[in-house]
Amino acid sequence: MSAAIDAMRGTIERLQRFAGGGGVRLTRVDVPAVIKSAVELIAPALGVDGRPAIDVELALAERLPPVVGHAADLQNVFINLLLNARDAMPDGGTVTIAARRSRDHVVVSVCDQGGGVAPEHLPRLFDPFFTTKAAAGGAGLGLSLAYGLVRAADGDIRAANRAGGGLEITLELPVARKSAQRPPRRRS
Ligand SMILES: Nc1ncnc2c1ncn2[C@@H]1O[C@H](COP(=O)(O)OP(=O)(O)OP(=O)(O)O)[C@@H](O)[C@H]1O
Ligand SMILES: [Mg+2]
Repeated sequence: MSAAIDAMRGTIERLQRFAGGGGVRLTRVDVPAVIKSAVELIAPALGVDGRPAIDVELALAERLPPVVGHAADLQNVFINLLLNARDAMPDGGTVTIAARRSRDHVVVSVCDQGGGVAPEHLPRLFDPFFTTKAAAGGAGLGLSLAYGLVRAADGDIRAANRAGGGLEITLELPVARKSAQRPPRRRS
């Protein structure tokens, strides 16, 4: 968890730099690798302290192209989504993360088997400080952070209740063009 918190701190610093106009250097990001590392990092939080276990199922297409973004930030987006899915399934269940290519985007969906979102809450989900978990210490920042990070990379993120119950978050991440290739940035 402390690694996850460190990663989160870095993301917040980069968001602040971005908001301050300092700019965040975007690179080419391997989506399946980022998803797998997020799942690995967060695994201890998905089934401890007597909590019913959350299973994570991955359905990642092969040979997905890299997307534009920042690997640590995107990892934080998935960590937030996994924690939300866990919170939505207090009796346990399965989170399914699927990724496929659609034209010039990699489309990732994160589906859970929880109760979904009240229709009147749907338009506010990505607003900063919107939370229904205030009593449990929720800050309402996870999804707004995700929104900011995905939009900064020219991507999109949206939420919808699934017909069979549960919430589906869909991310559309722009495929990195060859011309955008840069040497990997050295990070402090
Ligand atoms: N998978 C989900 N199922 C049901 N409701 C969800 C789900 N994900 C998010 N929500 C709703 O959206 C709200 C906002 O989510 P967000 O991640 O931004 O904040 P939070 O989880 O409440 O707090 P934080 O992420 O800052 O700890 C949640 O409080 C919850 O009501
Ligand atoms: Mg959250």
